[in-house]
Amino acid sequence: MSQTTNQSWGGRFSEPTDAFVARFTASVDFDQRLARHDIQGSIAHATMLAQVGVLSEQERDAIVTGLKEIETEIAEGSFEWSVALEDVHMNIEARLTQKIGITGKKLHTGRSRNDQVATDIRLYLREEIDLVASELARLRAGLIELADGEADTIMPGFTHLQTAQPVTFGHHLLAWQEMLARDHERLLDCRKRVNILPLGAAALAGTTYPIDRHLTAQLLGFERPAENSLDAVSDRDFAIEFTAFASLLLMHLSRMSEELVLWTSAQFDFIDLPDRFCTGSSIMPQKKNPDVPELVRGKTGRVYGHLMGLLTLMKSQPLAYNKDNQEDKEPLLDTLDTVKGCLRAFADMVPAIESKGDSMREAARKGFSTATDLADYLVRKGVAFRDAHEIVGQSVAYGIESGKDLSDMSLDELRQFSDTIGDDVFDVLTLEGSVAARNHIGGTAPDQVRAAAQRARDALKAIATDQGARQ
Ligand code: ARG
Repeated sequence: MSQTTNQSWGGRFSEPTDAFVARFTASVDFDQRLARHDIQGSIAHATMLAQVGVLSEQERDAIVTGLKEIETEIAEGSFEWSVALEDVHMNIEARLTQKIGITGKKLHTGRSRNDQVATDIRLYLREEIDLVASELARLRAGLIELADGEADTIMPGFTHLQTAQPVTFGHHLLAWQEMLARDHERLLDCRKRVNILPLGAAALAGTTYPIDRHLTAQLLGFERPAENSLDAVSDRDFAIEFTAFASLLLMHLSRMSEELVLWTSAQFDFIDLPDRFCTGSSIMPQKKNPDVPELVRGKTGRVYGHLMGLLTLMKSQPLAYNKDNQEDKEPLLDTLDTVKGCLRAFADMVPAIESKGDSMREAARKGFSTATDLADYLVRKGVAFRDAHEIVGQSVAYGIESGKDLSDMSLDELRQFSDTIGDDVFDVLTLEGSVAARNHIGGTAPDQVRAAAQRARDALKAIATDQGARQ
């Protein structure tokens, strides 16, 4: 590692950078992940400079060829990264100059690392958003199909984690799907604000060269150039917004994880996860642990941490660029890795969830989950709701004492509490009757679940068509 003054800005310095300071301020160890996008941005910049006559066509061609060779060197692993050259931008530029001579130094005309880095992150994040979106779509599709197949499976629905009313498993799974549909919308909305071109803002005030920012934007597939140069180089709200999306997504995945962990336990015994998503214990031979959902639940914390980190990084910065912003990359990149990993694990695992219908049904049967149905029955027979509530409360107390669920009681037993109860009560006290009666949009009835699954499928297809049209 050389300790000479940095070639890119050393002109006004009278002594070399302190060796520790050089390492401390360098970002190349982590921003080299942006290399491909840095080159993509540079090629567009050089193309635009030639178009407006700032570079000759020969100069542009030499630059573009050199950059493409460098891209290959990096991909093959033969490129030598130097901490002395601080960051990905100066490493690539130095190599370009080494390869093509003085023309390499002309690439930086009319731009600064400030607009360059902001462009690189946006290009990188945009590509990653598309990957995240397709994994999210895969997970949603898996959930929808699983839900459709479980439209008739009865399980207890909970409030306060106490048995409340019977629901269908498909309905529960579609609740998860709704959460993810909103996350998906948020992600695609965030993409719009990521897809804006900072290049041309230069250091902070714009540049004196006759640049064509619309052309650069078009070459890079950006929606438009950023309106204000000071804002373009300085704000990282788009990265914060993505991390906020990621935090909400992981919050949802964490809730799902929590339920999967509970459901695989011997106490619930609602589902089975295939062995390939679980691990064993080195001391307890009987154990099969739901590691994947547990780890996803755990990883949620680090993404929340990154959100707080980025918000705090940004909060007191005066306009325009400050070196603080170099700290945006590690949290953002780690958020991306974490989100992609969690989504992949979930998208692979969800279709493999095996429901244990008998066990779910038994749990729903045990918890007086049709008590509300009995109250509603009494109301339909003319009893006031408060009185109906009291009558059912007494029936439940009797059930606890006698070890019987409401549907296990004989008509005579039930009539102790109200003589309005007739033979037809058993239609509503069954679990199937209870769920089938909630037959409106958003309700848990099996037919509604199948219809909701179809709507969800259509909505997902509409997003895919939209994205296809854009690319
Ligand atoms: N490595 C820097 C970053 O990540 C690049 C921009 C540096 N600009 C500067 N004026 N020092 O933000």
